[in-house]
Amino acid sequence: MSLPNAQSPKLSPYWNQLEQLAQQAANWSMREVFRQAPTRQKDFTTSHNGLSLDLSQTQLSDPSLDALITLLYQDQNFEAWRTAMFEGQHINHTEDRAVLHTALRIPRKQTGESTPLPYEDKIKDKIALVHDTLGKMEDFTREIHSPPADKPQITDIVNIGIGGSSLGPEMAYKALRSHHKKGIRVHYVSNVDGHDLYYTLQGLSPENTLFLVASKTFTTQETMANATEARKWLTEALGESAVGEHFAALSTNIEAATNFGISSNRVFPFWDWVGGRFSLWSSIGLSLCLGLGFDKFEELLAGAHDMDKHFYEAPPKENLPVLLALTGIWNRNFMGHSNLAVLPYDQRLERFPAFLQQLDMESNGKFADRNGVCVDYATGPTLYGEPGTNGQHAFYQHLQQSNDITPCEFITIENPDHPYHRHHNTLLKNAAAQALALMNGRTLEEAGGDIYRVFSGNRPSSTLNIKCLTPYHLGQLLALYEHKTSTQGIFWAINSYDQYGVELGKELAKTL
Ligand code: F6P
Repeated sequence: MSLPNAQSPKLSPYWNQLEQLAQQAANWSMREVFRQAPTRQKDFTTSHNGLSLDLSQTQLSDPSLDALITLLYQDQNFEAWRTAMFEGQHINHTEDRAVLHTALRIPRKQTGESTPLPYEDKIKDKIALVHDTLGKMEDFTREIHSPPADKPQITDIVNIGIGGSSLGPEMAYKALRSHHKKGIRVHYVSNVDGHDLYYTLQGLSPENTLFLVASKTFTTQETMANATEARKWLTEALGESAVGEHFAALSTNIEAATNFGISSNRVFPFWDWVGGRFSLWSSIGLSLCLGLGFDKFEELLAGAHDMDKHFYEAPPKENLPVLLALTGIWNRNFMGHSNLAVLPYDQRLERFPAFLQQLDMESNGKFADRNGVCVDYATGPTLYGEPGTNGQHAFYQHLQQSNDITPCEFITIENPDHPYHRHHNTLLKNAAAQALALMNGRTLEEAGGDIYRVFSGNRPSSTLNIKCLTPYHLGQLLALYEHKTSTQGIFWAINSYDQYGVELGKELAKTL
């Protein structure tokens, strides 16, 4: 089946209209806009099942949002591309692969009123593979948590992997610290810098340690170096025969994993239709099953599935991933901002910006479009971030007073898991205050004539508020950002699913 048409968004008549609207918006006083439209916050806030996205503090208006939606849906064939993804067409055309991370979270049992989505029928074979592997992951989790009497209790799991084989699980493990399973600690080792492995192994007992070698290809230099060294550490203490009990592999390359000495019943597969940065939901999430419990992992999958369904079904003005994507496009292509700061006001999300950097920048940091033509418009922004309030004491000076305007995405969690209510109150007030300072600024007059205390204001931000950080809501959050990334790729007519940009450096490192 041939893929939908992809073309430069600049060919759309709405592109010019958006440029004109952006010129007007650049001259807005956002304070004034709010004064004139007291319901703006309500009008520009959209909610879905525990998540609410407030876009009122951006320079979007009804006409600009309408034009963005029409350009995306009408001229960029958004719905056809979205369906192509869910149905398993090879939308990753440069690698001739389907992009089916959404199949990883289709529930094993339909519960309550949930009914299968129309695309599920087309990918039945893939769903069967996924559910089979989930069953194995569940059994393995049970075995590790309750070993037979003649086997030692595993207390430490070391996940050896890099990029998508580490960032997602590590971020989620840290985010879900209220759900950590007692008696088990999970460690993540990525860097080929030996300090990473060396300091992780300090204090671990070989007898009670399980290594997960997480690598889609099972050839990645850093991972193989760390896995080989870990194997040596283990066999020096327990002998060669211990590898079978103390190693498992999460990979698409079963042969390489078994050649490494890992027994085939401990190789948890996934497939080439799962991209590295989208792989947290596959066997790459095994460290989460072990560190949180399999039920929590299934809750995470359920949250992501809920967001898939929402993304697939909700109309554009209610569709959170579409709205977040279009806001980013508005800021990038029409307001001319090349950076994006993602600012979670929650310490548990400390690794979320790092995870997003891979998701967003590896997906959309590209100059060639789907037709092999160099684009003459901006694609993915430079993304960075840090939890608030820590970031406030580091780089917010730049956000508030630099000549380069950086749109900000604030993320707040309504209900914390700790009992310090005053802390939480202060935290949330800080997030709101920063957004307000960005938007309202402070005039020379208000600053008493002191230029150093002037804030230009009119700096856009959005706020995503989440009810609480359960596995379910985290699953929704991550899938929301995945679909934001895909939507932007469709708008820009690029393939968001390959990553040739990381190869040249790897090749040169080998030749050196
Ligand atoms: O270097 C980029 C990359 O290919 C990522 O896309 C991927 O997540 C990471 O390396 C790790 O690859 P693997 O899982 O094959 O070890």
